[in-house]
Amino acid sequence: MKAIIYRRYGTPEVMQLREQPVPIAGKGKVRVKVHATAINDWDWTLLRGQPHLLRLFSGPFKPKITILGTEVAGVVEALGEGVTRFAVGDRVYGDLSEAGFGGFADYVSVPENAMHPMTANMTFEQAAALPHAGLLALQGLVGAGAIRHGDRVLINGAGGGVGAIGLGIAKTYGCRVTGVDKASKLGALNAMGFDETLDYEQTDFTRHGQRYDLVLDAKTTHSPLRYLNALEPGGRYVSVGGYLPKLFQLFCAGPLIRKVTKKQLTILALKPNQGLDRLNDLFEAGALNCMIDGPFALTDVPAAMARFGRADHLGKIVIKVE
Ligand SMILES: NC(=O)c1ccc[n+]([C@@H]2O[C@H](COP(=O)([O-])OP(=O)(O)OC[C@H]3O[C@@H](n4cnc5c(N)ncnc54)[C@H](OP(=O)(O)O)[C@@H]3O)[C@@H](O)[C@H]2O)c1
Repeated sequence: MKAIIYRRYGTPEVMQLREQPVPIAGKGKVRVKVHATAINDWDWTLLRGQPHLLRLFSGPFKPKITILGTEVAGVVEALGEGVTRFAVGDRVYGDLSEAGFGGFADYVSVPENAMHPMTANMTFEQAAALPHAGLLALQGLVGAGAIRHGDRVLINGAGGGVGAIGLGIAKTYGCRVTGVDKASKLGALNAMGFDETLDYEQTDFTRHGQRYDLVLDAKTTHSPLRYLNALEPGGRYVSVGGYLPKLFQLFCAGPLIRKVTKKQLTILALKPNQGLDRLNDLFEAGALNCMIDGPFALTDVPAAMARFGRADHLGKIVIKVE
C-alpha cells in the first residue's frame, strides 16, 4: 500500500510517499480501507516533535510512530479475531489519537472501538472532518460549557475545524454566535452564519466591552483574568487548546476563580470518539457544516501539512485517499 511516512522530526519536507506492507487486522482490530483523512493539530505536533516534552512519549530521538493521520473515514475491509461491532463493508470513521494514528495510508488497522458507523448521507470527506474537531466542539460547548438555549456564545479561532462545527451546534440551541479570527477569514465566517465576526488583530474580545455567556477558545493566548472580563455573571469559558503557559495558568487558577467569581474557566480534555452518535444525529438533521479545505490527494500530504502550519486553511484540511 501507499503511505506517507516520516522517520525523523522536522518540517513537512521530511514526509515521503513510500510503499508499505498492508497491515493485518489483529485481535480486536479491523482493517479499514481509508477513503479520506484530515490534517489535525496532533499530526502537526508529532511531525515536529514539539514541544520537546512530547518526545518522552513519541520517541526521544526519532518518532516511534512513522505514519501520522489522526482522523479517518473508510470501509471495513477485514475483521480480526473477536471483532463484534462491525462487518466487512461497513462505512466507518473515527479519531485514532489513542489508537496509534496511521491515517495517511491506503489502509489502517485499528481497535474496533476507535471506529464508529457513518450515517447514510455522510461522504467520506465530511466524515474525516468530524471526529476530532467535531467532538472538541461538542464536548466543549455541550459538556464542559453546559450551553443553554439563547446563550451569547463566542468562538475564538473560529476559522479552524472547531469553529464551523461549533457554530452549527450552538445554532441548534438558538444562540447568537460571534466568531473571532483574522481579517482574511471573516468573509467566509459571515457566509457560514456567524452573527458577528471580530478580527483578532484589531479587536481584543477580552477588552472590547461585550460579554458572553459562553466562550469556546481554540487558541488560548491571554491570562485567566482577561477571560473573566469577557464573561457575563455565571458565564463559562472553555479552552480546547492554545499556548502552554496560558493553559498552565488556567489549570492552576481556574478552580479558585470559580469559587470566588462564580464564573467558570476550564480546559477541555478531549474524550476521543465519545459523542459520535450525537454528531451523526446533528449531521442528519442538517445542523453541521463540515467546512472542508481541499480535498487534497495523499501525495499532497506534505504540502497540506505546510498549509496547516501556516494556518492558511479554512475549516478542516481533508485528504482524499483514492
Ligand atoms: N483539548 C484537547 O484534548 C485537545 C486535543 C487535541 C487538540 N486540541 C487543540 O484544539 C485546537 C483545535 O482547534 P482547530 O482544529 O479549530 O484549530 P485550527 O484548525 O488550527 O484553527 C485555529 C484557528 O485559529 C486562528 N488563530 C490563530 N491565532 C489566533 C488568535 N490569537 N486569536 C484567534 N484566532 C487565532 C487560526 O487562524 P490564523 O492563524 O490564520 O489567524 C485558525 O483559523 C488546537 O488548539 C489544538 O491544540 C485540544
